[in-house]
Amino acid sequence: MKSERPVRISASILAADVARLGEQVKEAEAAGADSIHVDVMDGRFVPNITMGPLVVRALRRITALPLPTHLMIVEPERYIPDFVTAGSDWISVHQETCPHLHRTIQQIRDLGARAGVVINPATPAATLADIVQDVDSVLVMTVNPGFGGQQFIPGMLRKIRQVRQMLDESGSAAALEVDGGIDSRTAPLVVEAGATVLIAGQAVFGTKESVAAAIARLRQSIAG
Ligand code: DX5
Ligand code: ZN
Repeated sequence: MKSERPVRISASILAADVARLGEQVKEAEAAGADSIHVDVMDGRFVPNITMGPLVVRALRRITALPLPTHLMIVEPERYIPDFVTAGSDWISVHQETCPHLHRTIQQIRDLGARAGVVINPATPAATLADIVQDVDSVLVMTVNPGFGGQQFIPGMLRKIRQVRQMLDESGSAAALEVDGGIDSRTAPLVVEAGATVLIAGQAVFGTKESVAAAIARLRQSIAG
């Protein structure tokens, strides 16, 4: 499936071998990954705990790639400055965790980072109507957040199309990201629906082949 928009691949380090994290990030960079996706979980908004600003700071020293940071935490506004200071250049917050979403998006931008909004599978696209103008990205979760290696939820294709339409109608150039269960089978479907950033964990770091081969396979699946 060939898209008329450039499609970028973001390698999610949730699926990387943490004992060899730096090495794995360098492999992804050498293989042409466009960014390194950092999943931050707090054991409250989602039932898992992962990494914090320390990891971002360490990665910032070893890669030139953008470090988009996906905050799956309650009260994200408390930690956004720490992540930006550590080197996060793009921060995405969940609509479900932000009663004052517009303010939180402004906070991220005022700190000099790009700002994105994320919605869970059960959150309708319509909840974004009054914020799409103000964000650099919209992330449609294609699994329930919290864990890597889950099955893509097919019903999300309809939502990706809805968000695509919202962005196009509002003249927004925001990236349309998808996260969860993205592999060479689902990638062509989400690209056809209008996604421009494919976030992938297992399909990049969790296969038997090399990271380079895995990324090539993903690219190939959307090449035509
Ligand atoms: C899930 C995370 C994802 C995760 C995706 O809550 O937001 O970024 O790493 O993993 P895969 O690609 O393995 O489904
Ligand atoms: Zn993520």
